[in-house]
Amino acid sequence: HIPNPPLPLADGGIKLVNDPAHPFIAAGPNDIRGPCPALNTLASHGYLPRNGVARPDQIVTAVMEGLNLGNDFAKFLVYQAFLMNGNPITNLMSIGMKTPETGPNPPKPAQVGGLSQHGTFEGDTSMTRVDAYFGDQAVFNEDLFQGFIATSAKYGVNGTYDVNAAAELRYQRLQDSIKTNPQLVYTSPRILSAYSEAVFPTIFFVDGRLNNRQLTIDAARHFFDFQMMPADFHRQPAPVNFTMVDPLTKAIFDKHPFTPGVNHGKNNFVLQPKTPALSDFCGIYEDIVLRVIPGQYPRPTGALREAINKNLGFLYTAVKTEHNCAQVFPFGKD
Ligand code: HEM
Ligand code: MG
Repeated sequence: HIPNPPLPLADGGIKLVNDPAHPFIAAGPNDIRGPCPALNTLASHGYLPRNGVARPDQIVTAVMEGLNLGNDFAKFLVYQAFLMNGNPITNLMSIGMKTPETGPNPPKPAQVGGLSQHGTFEGDTSMTRVDAYFGDQAVFNEDLFQGFIATSAKYGVNGTYDVNAAAELRYQRLQDSIKTNPQLVYTSPRILSAYSEAVFPTIFFVDGRLNNRQLTIDAARHFFDFQMMPADFHRQPAPVNFTMVDPLTKAIFDKHPFTPGVNHGKNNFVLQPKTPALSDFCGIYEDIVLRVIPGQYPRPTGALREAINKNLGFLYTAVKTEHNCAQVFPFGKD
């Protein structure tokens, strides 16, 4: 049985979220954490199971409750990730490395790799994690965080990480990987997450009472490194959907436009102009559904096919209203 996606919050207003019911407890040796500072933090506060293994509907609820992601936006991120990295049979996903805790795996080439699985949702040019080519792509990296601080000092208002700092850091991380990572991949769907994740901290990690889109380095340190909400942290004052995020994403793109591409060896970025561009949201949705997911599930049958189709339907509910995408079906319509 697969639970339906949660509905929007009944009360989506501002609220203390670092509250006594959700105390920070550092991850123990058996608790899984991964490449996403938001989900790591939500697990450390008990909005997600503290062991870091969760059902997709639990993750949707956690990001709505804890950070006030809008319902569509939450469903888009979660069901996309779940189809790439979760176990459709047991309905469980790891927010970090692959683990037996997600249960018996469907047949290969399915990976059920967890969110840390490189080349799915996780990809290159992350802000505070190294490219998989260089080492652990999931763990916080202090050298990169020093770059985050320096870029914020140079370009952000009062040294904060704001939209200008985000634009410069995104550009720098791409230039750095072009120069140094012979296996850089910077195409759909990674380009969309790369840009969203550059913008998210300016929204969701800023206390909702201030809500000025200027993230202090102290608050950034809490989420990215400590996996902890700052003391007294309040979530966004209203649910945040694509209509809020898309213009910010476009603003940082417009400062340093790029064409998708891959490196064929260091400093040899080969453009892939026929793959979906960042501005082509529905093209990226179709690329995920018609290429990326069938890459792991070429011909699913029986209960597996039913579960995947159900999750594909949930993903579609997230892209139909604000982006008006047409639904696509890799395995038929049943
Ligand atoms: C990174 C998943 C929500 C902030 C990532 C990555 C994954 C992921 C797989 C690794 C991508 C990479 O950098 O290579 C998810 C899922 C979410 C979610 C499934 C479900 C709602 C959020 C939210 C925020 C957020 C609400 C709010 C701030 C970030 C940031 C990074 C990131 C800033 C980039 C870290 C870096 O580049 O160093 N997320 N995320 N995520 N996520 Fe999330
Ligand atoms: Mg990465």
